[in-house]
Amino acid sequence: MQGRDKWCAKLTSAFLRKWWFVLGCAILLLLAGIFCAIFFMKLVGLYIDHELVLREGSQTFDWWAHPPVRPFVHVYVYNVTNADEFLNNGSKPVLDELGPYVYSEDWEKVNITNNQNGTLSFNYKRTYTFRPDLSTGLDDDAVVVPNIPMLSATSQSKHAARFLRLAMASIMDILKIKPFVEVSVGQLLWGYEDPLLKLAKDVVPKEQKLPYEEFGLFYGKNGTSSDVVTMFTGATGMSKYGIINRYNMRDKLQHWTTDECNSIAGSDGSIFPPHITKNQTLAVYDKDLCRLLPLRFLKEVTIGGIQAYRFTPPDDVFANNEHNKCFCPAGPPCSPDGLFNVSLCQYDSPIMLSFPHFYLADPKLREAVEGISPPDAEKHRLFIDVQPEMGIAMRARARIQINLAVSQVIDIKQVANFPDIVFPILWFEEGIDELPEQVTSLLRLATQVPPIARNSLSYGLSALGILLILLAVTCLIRSSHRQSTLRLEGHVVAKPPPAKTPSKDSNGYELNSRR
Ligand SMILES: *[C@@H]1O[C@H](CO)[C@@H](O)[C@H](O)[C@H]1NC(C)=O
Ligand SMILES: *[C@@H]1O[C@H](CO)[C@@H](O)[C@H](O)[C@H]1NC(C)=O
Ligand SMILES: *[C@@H]1O[C@H](CO)[C@@H](O)[C@H](O)[C@H]1NC(C)=O
Ligand SMILES: *[C@@H]1O[C@H](CO)[C@@H](O)[C@H](O)[C@H]1NC(C)=O
Ligand SMILES: *[C@@H]1O[C@H](CO)[C@@H](O)[C@H](O)[C@H]1NC(C)=O
Ligand SMILES: *[C@@H]1O[C@H](CO)[C@@H](O)[C@H](O)[C@H]1NC(C)=O
Ligand SMILES: *[C@@H]1O[C@H](CO)[C@@H](O)[C@H](O)[C@H]1NC(C)=O
Repeated sequence: MQGRDKWCAKLTSAFLRKWWFVLGCAILLLLAGIFCAIFFMKLVGLYIDHELVLREGSQTFDWWAHPPVRPFVHVYVYNVTNADEFLNNGSKPVLDELGPYVYSEDWEKVNITNNQNGTLSFNYKRTYTFRPDLSTGLDDDAVVVPNIPMLSATSQSKHAARFLRLAMASIMDILKIKPFVEVSVGQLLWGYEDPLLKLAKDVVPKEQKLPYEEFGLFYGKNGTSSDVVTMFTGATGMSKYGIINRYNMRDKLQHWTTDECNSIAGSDGSIFPPHITKNQTLAVYDKDLCRLLPLRFLKEVTIGGIQAYRFTPPDDVFANNEHNKCFCPAGPPCSPDGLFNVSLCQYDSPIMLSFPHFYLADPKLREAVEGISPPDAEKHRLFIDVQPEMGIAMRARARIQINLAVSQVIDIKQVANFPDIVFPILWFEEGIDELPEQVTSLLRLATQVPPIARNSLSYGLSALGILLILLAVTCLIRSSHRQSTLRLEGHVVAKPPPAKTPSKDSNGYELNSRR
């Protein structure tokens, strides 16, 4: 009691005349605390946005141009083990899933030019290196797969004149082209010389020419792409951050029937507009997919202590429904559930994309062949885990299966027994596993420190403010009470009334009264 009185006395002595100053400070602190509680995260968000913008020389820009990630692609090839029986005896094709054949990737963006309107233009440069240590098997393993150039040509000739088909049959006879080829995994991916493409290059009129004489499913992907991509940097607003503006100077595709389906306004999968909510639909554009791929929230995940949202395509993304009608300009009939016809993006070859093991597709497709196990969402689903505040992809698995939709053509004897079938060729999984420590530690800092800082700041400031208010109020009450009791005492004991007004020398009274 005595100590507090002394302290209060000191405080009172120092501040009583300026009690409004203490109270004012206290109220300011309290307001600052409340302000922090409400606006701190907003300010942090603004700061993050500012830092994310792709400005030459910034850390974000360096990471964007030379991502410090180790992406990989796992390839699984369906080796046909009964090619002769399939062709001669009409049995189902028996497939043997081989792999993974793993390639590590090195991503880079080259030829970056700033367009001064909030966009950058650049070329992707991707270098693939085979990793025998991570693979089961070598990339020179021989596999038997459908002859894609040949079956594309025969399937396309279905509606051509009969004599053309007969001519085709004799050319294929001379060139000894068979419906199945035995090639190495490396050749199937990166290219092998195909006699038909070579011929086409010499014969077909210039304007219809295929751009190459080699055939490979990843042909031309190793190295600098010639496609010029224009992407928003965020300088003109974060709502389009990382979104593709133009691809080879075009701002939309030409193949589909509506503007919505022709849109390419998606991310490339590495960065998204920040502040992502769970009910948002993200979009990824990939040239080979030939459309925007919508992604919806699936669940929350934690990666290296950082919270992220897992986004995955909706179950009906490749469904044969009203919404996807725009992707079927030649239909109906359109492709069955779970298949996406990319023939218009693949020089008219009947290539159909699906998810691995026909995940989310009509089960009949999988049952038409033998050797493909039932799909498993965890193994075959495509997903991207994004850090919602910053929109950075922290883990990704782009899983796609490449199929060939073969049409039976009786007039061409080599393929006369090849029935109408969607023939799976291979599936791959491209992605990143985890960001390097230098990036994750920064992400951790940026996502975990602000809430703690906000709480400690707002609670600390508010607590200090309240404490000071209490103290000031207590002291004020105490001193005014003391002064009034003194005055009262003076009356009762009939001491002479104080000469000075209490406000002038409160200290003197305090000291007197204690003695
Ligand atoms: C693929 O299947 C063929 C038989 O059709 C076989 O000779 C070959 O060894 C298989 N390849 C591998 C890598 O198992
Ligand atoms: C085709 O089937 C017949 C009888 O079903 C059998 O004898 C023959 O060996 C089979 N041919 C091949 C290439 O397996
Ligand atoms: C940059 O682009 C030009 C033409 O657009 C091309 O010739 C050159 O090779 C590119 N440079 C790099 C490093 O890719
Ligand atoms: C920005 O400038 C580039 C190059 O001039 C142009 O291709 C692009 O369409 C422009 N983008 C916007 C959003 O204005
Ligand atoms: C890709 O290209 C690089 C160099 O250009 C080469 O070293 C590498 O072997 C190539 N990868 C494949 C899978 O062909
Ligand atoms: C998304 O969720 C927020 C609240 O979490 C809600 O306010 C908003 O209306 C929702 N938007 C849509 C398109 O559902
Ligand atoms: C795929 O699309 C092309 C071009 O629209 C069309 O000609 C072809 O019939 C389609 N294929 C199937 C199997 O629907």
